[in-house]
Amino acid sequence: PLVLHVLGARPNFVKAAPVVRGLAELGVRQGIIHTGQHYDALMSDVFFADLGLPEPIANLGVGSGTHARQTAALLTGLEDVVLEHRPALVVVYGDVNSTLAAILVCAKLHVPTAHVEAGLRSFDREMPEEVNRVVTDALSDLLFATSPEALSHLANEGVDPAKVHLVGNPMIDSLFAALPKLDPAPVRERLGIEGDYAVATLHRPANVDDPEAARELVEAVLGVAEQVQVVVPLHPRGRQRLADAGLVNRPNLKIVDPLGYVDFLSLVRGAALVVTDSGGVQEETTMLGVPCLTVRPNTERPITVTHGTNRLVTPASLPAAASKALADGAATPSGDLPPLWDGAAGPRIARVIEAWLRGDNLSP
Ligand code: UD1
Ligand code: UDP
Repeated sequence: PLVLHVLGARPNFVKAAPVVRGLAELGVRQGIIHTGQHYDALMSDVFFADLGLPEPIANLGVGSGTHARQTAALLTGLEDVVLEHRPALVVVYGDVNSTLAAILVCAKLHVPTAHVEAGLRSFDREMPEEVNRVVTDALSDLLFATSPEALSHLANEGVDPAKVHLVGNPMIDSLFAALPKLDPAPVRERLGIEGDYAVATLHRPANVDDPEAARELVEAVLGVAEQVQVVVPLHPRGRQRLADAGLVNRPNLKIVDPLGYVDFLSLVRGAALVVTDSGGVQEETTMLGVPCLTVRPNTERPITVTHGTNRLVTPASLPAAASKALADGAATPSGDLPPLWDGAAGPRIARVIEAWLRGDNLSP
């Protein structure tokens, strides 16, 4: 039996690496389909190198577009691939459009699926990712949850608990695997960063697509830059709009290209503060004990607030929250970190999949 992993966007690569490694250790035949949703070298290739992911067996090259156009290209491309390879199981990750399209294609072709990072909910349907999460979980055959609250969200939506496995967080497996390589010094030197600094990442549509929202956000980031040097590895989505709103290089503000995985986490590890609207970065800062201010009205990862270093802020409250976080100093991990975020989620997922495949082979 063949397992196919459908990956398309930066966070997918980080979540998949430990699962691919776990399945390889169990001798499961597998292949990666890259949809091409992300295609810049700094959004894709660098992650395959940093994470030791095997070369994809296909790249669909779907690229960017409106939600409908991108999803349509994903659907047709993935249908061809699934028909060609006839996988026993397709594994999808997170909440991006590639995830949604793969689940829809497989459901219609009666190909079984597994969703890694099931059951996260922001309860905000204006987020494209929330729509993707709800549909993906409704159609998945195996659901792998990263945190306990996911179990009740899935139960409330009528998902059969027998399909759900609480396995921990593979994104944290990748972080643990990278930890020995995380050294802020080389990346600081390359970027010319001296003294204390904050790292900011911003790419949520609600923050960067609307000029007025972008303006408020940039004003807030400039408020942080008055207190500490801010380094912004900028996602391509926000680039133009945020620059138009004033997010440009200044004495205490450094705008740089997106960073590779090891460089980025190295920089985060040495940061006094992180400001973000990313999903994954909320989790990574919790594990690294770096204070994180998330510029969003909600989070699908509340465990990073209750068990970690994360706080939700508005643009208006960001500068004062930054001042407090900087004064309080490095947050020590609480000793009460999220359960099963222990670096062994990939092997747990692999064992469930391998057992499932064996059961499948025994059926008539
Ligand atoms: C996608 C995911 C989002 C995730 C993010 C991770 C969806 C709906 N959204 O958002 O959940 O947090 O990835 O980074 O799937 N672009 C480039 N180069 C690239 C890729 C994108 O320049 O390699 C630019 C294009 O102008 C494109 C825009 O970024 O239109 C948005 O890309 P897209 O993949 O549609 O969504 P993201 O905002 O990256
Ligand atoms: N990341 C990275 N370089 C960057 C910004 C983020 O390697 O310049 C990593 C980050 O450490 C995390 C992942 O990308 O592992 C998160 O992806 P992103 O924020 O794009 O997506 P989200 O988690 O919001 O869906």
